[in-house]
Amino acid sequence: MSKEEKKAYITTPIYYVNDIPHIGHAYTTIIADTMARFYRLRGYKTYFLTGTDEHGQKIEQAALKRGRTPKEYADEISGKFKALWDEFEISYDDFIRTTDERHKIGVQKAFEVMYNNGDIYKGEYEGHYCVSCETFFTETQLIDGEGCPDCGKVTNLVKEESYFFKLSKYQDKLLKWYSDDDKCVLPKGKKNEVISFVKQGLRDLSVTRTSFDWGVKLPKSMNDDKHVMYVWLDALLNYITALGYGKNEDRMEFWPATAHLVGKDILRFHAIYWPAFLMSLGLPLPKHIAAHGWWTRNGEKMSKSKGNVVNPKEVADAYGLENFRYFMLREVPFGQDGDFSQKALIDRINSDLGNEFGNLLNRIIGMSGKYSDFNITSKNVAKLHQKELAEANEILKDIELKLDELQTNRYLEDLWRVLTIANGAITAHEPWVKIKNGDTDGALAVVGLVANLLAKVTILVSPVMPKTASKIADAMKFEISYESYKKYIVDNELLEDFSIEKIPPLFPKIEEELLKTPKPSIDKKKEDKKSNEGIISIDQFFQTKLKVGTVLEATEVEKSKKLLKLKVDLGEENPRQIVAGIKEFYSPNELIDSQVCVVANLKPAKIMGLLSEGMLLAAKDKDGLSLIRPEHKRNSGSLIG
Ligand code: ME8
Ligand code: MG
Repeated sequence: MSKEEKKAYITTPIYYVNDIPHIGHAYTTIIADTMARFYRLRGYKTYFLTGTDEHGQKIEQAALKRGRTPKEYADEISGKFKALWDEFEISYDDFIRTTDERHKIGVQKAFEVMYNNGDIYKGEYEGHYCVSCETFFTETQLIDGEGCPDCGKVTNLVKEESYFFKLSKYQDKLLKWYSDDDKCVLPKGKKNEVISFVKQGLRDLSVTRTSFDWGVKLPKSMNDDKHVMYVWLDALLNYITALGYGKNEDRMEFWPATAHLVGKDILRFHAIYWPAFLMSLGLPLPKHIAAHGWWTRNGEKMSKSKGNVVNPKEVADAYGLENFRYFMLREVPFGQDGDFSQKALIDRINSDLGNEFGNLLNRIIGMSGKYSDFNITSKNVAKLHQKELAEANEILKDIELKLDELQTNRYLEDLWRVLTIANGAITAHEPWVKIKNGDTDGALAVVGLVANLLAKVTILVSPVMPKTASKIADAMKFEISYESYKKYIVDNELLEDFSIEKIPPLFPKIEEELLKTPKPSIDKKKEDKKSNEGIISIDQFFQTKLKVGTVLEATEVEKSKKLLKLKVDLGEENPRQIVAGIKEFYSPNELIDSQVCVVANLKPAKIMGLLSEGMLLAAKDKDGLSLIRPEHKRNSGSLIG
């Protein structure tokens, strides 16, 4: 392929403007930046997009809380993201905001296309609405099938007019795509999760709302200005509106995307909704949708509300931006979660970067200074070090694939294997002995070999550490460029003779943590409790008394769609009255005389004015609800556990 024909399009998520950027956002953006730089290095015409997601109720409310208009508020936070990326020298080509006019035009156009081809229809959106809280809840959030989880009042089933996208129509096509295109969703483990989700069946997707305003209006041709677009339809389309979709389509040459980088929280939107929308628009599907894991602190996801956020700028200021980039990409296998710790970061800097990478440059400077007045030659390298060269070239043969498939840590590990060959060659061939014995050519060939291996690693590490790589390249008198990439990586040519520049060590040793541990915003006890979240001791488990009960009576609760009133024998003096939200799934008659499992030491509660003295165990999924019962009849009141 000629240089002109190769194109790459890399994206980050567009970040919500309800939060300030933290290292999770920085991670995604740094991976995407590395990818974009790598494609440019390989001669691809590259377009790298990032931006901010500014519509929706969440932003509207965040702005209102601060007494600002949504737009004012979005301007401020969007500016913070942009400023951070500029400070981090993120090489984005475009920064899209969903409040941009070009974006709105593209979104309306897309809506029109989907509507005209029959994929969007008008219907009703059903949800459980709490009037006093003015909030919709899903069925699973409700208490006993109808209570508001916030204030406890009974919710109403509300229907709201909405347009729907025929997602169900694309279920089989999506499954076919996943199976035809092995690498469309990366990593593979995550892809399997997506496949099983889709196999459970897709429901049509509500893509408009009438209950708030802060969104893109429907296209004029729809003649329906009650509705605004659902924020995810709006947001996902950024990937094509940034290329001029619906307006000036000159940059559409970059479509389809090479890689959409996302966190695992938003994989479903990208791996299910987005390709379905694209199919409906008649556009080709992205090559890779790649989902990485969480950055956590002490095992917890970082978030502002938990007060455990690591500020990426502070880390970069303290430890060096490029060291931080290296750490993030090297420390965690793509797709897995990683815990941020300064200790791990310091280890990486002192060991991988200082001892193995930087030190190699120092050794070359030192040796060549002693043996040849800093002159380095590749003469005799091929002749005397065929084996080491071949080993290194073998490792680097398909190195691009590692990064193309987002195996960031394996990519860097492979580069470090080449450094190990170089360091090993010095130990094995002892150039200082050769010099003593008068074998100057032999000694210089070792130095030449090491310089060539270091040059290869420097070129390939440049997308991760661009400035550091440039410093080394400057000292060694070569350039980081597409031409160098071709010459030294693809064609395996050797460096021309050069005289090395003395430069100070690139990775001074770090002796102690440079950042004060951020003060936890919650007191220690609470923190400890939270870091154990989800894990309980056996004693804690047995604090819950679970018992087998026999249903003596079952009646419907008047005016309730959900509730049945039961009398359950727990082997006690009197049967218990239990009010349960199971009416849709069980008739009173089929319950009488059957056995159930009951939480017997729950504080009694009033549900719709009725006393309830226990709770039934049941399992629920989208297809229905089943009570949990003993396999064989047991005495009423038998303990479970
Ligand atoms: O979801 N670890 O925006 P968002 C790793 N607007 N990555 C993290 C992270 C963490 N602890 N926290 C956040 C949205 N991220 C939508 C996207 S795209 C069409 C619309 C990163 O501001 C990660 O990339 O909530 C995650 O997917 C993204 O921030 C979510 O950003
Ligand atoms: Mg989020």
